[in-house]
Amino acid sequence: MPPAELQTPHTPHTPPDESPDLTVTVNATVNGTRRSTTVEPRRTLADWLRDDLGLTATHLGCEQGVCGACTVLVDGDPVRSCLMLAVQAREMAVTTVEGLGSVADMHPVQQGCLDAMSFQCGFCTPGFLMAITAYLARRGQTAEVPDGRAPSDDEIREALSGNLCRCTGYQSIVDGVRRAWEITSESAGA
Ligand code: FES
Ligand code: FES
Repeated sequence: MPPAELQTPHTPHTPPDESPDLTVTVNATVNGTRRSTTVEPRRTLADWLRDDLGLTATHLGCEQGVCGACTVLVDGDPVRSCLMLAVQAREMAVTTVEGLGSVADMHPVQQGCLDAMSFQCGFCTPGFLMAITAYLARRGQTAEVPDGRAPSDDEIREALSGNLCRCTGYQSIVDGVRRAWEITSESAGA
């Protein structure tokens, strides 16, 4: 028996089946519907949307904030859902591409990109559509474009510089944004 000062003190431990519950409840409005689930605090918004809610149209590419494929709208602002935690979206309104429009009733951004044949494989498309939606909504509200002119190529490229496409080439995407702007302007003036 070693001297008392060398003996390992007894430290109580928590058996695995008695570990504390480390889950939290996430309440958010997703595509207009109230959703509530329990998640681990480390769960990303992207994983929550895709794996817990089954909204798999939001794509995951780099998972480190570079490609923009995972872009969704949170209270109208574009965010990279791979970098945001689900718990950070509590009591907020989340919009994914599933909530944008449907085949029968397309959102102007979807229709514009279809008209311009903006995309090929489609992997980047959900993120682009959400980023374009946020850009056109923001641009429409700013006092910097009082003349109602169409966005220039440079403006569009700057606005979408955080989204990457690996297979189409960007000019058709720029054309799709301008077509979406035209559709929106036409319907606003109708
Ligand atoms: S998957 Fe989120 S930025 Fe690439
Ligand atoms: S359309 Fe294929 S990555 Fe953009």
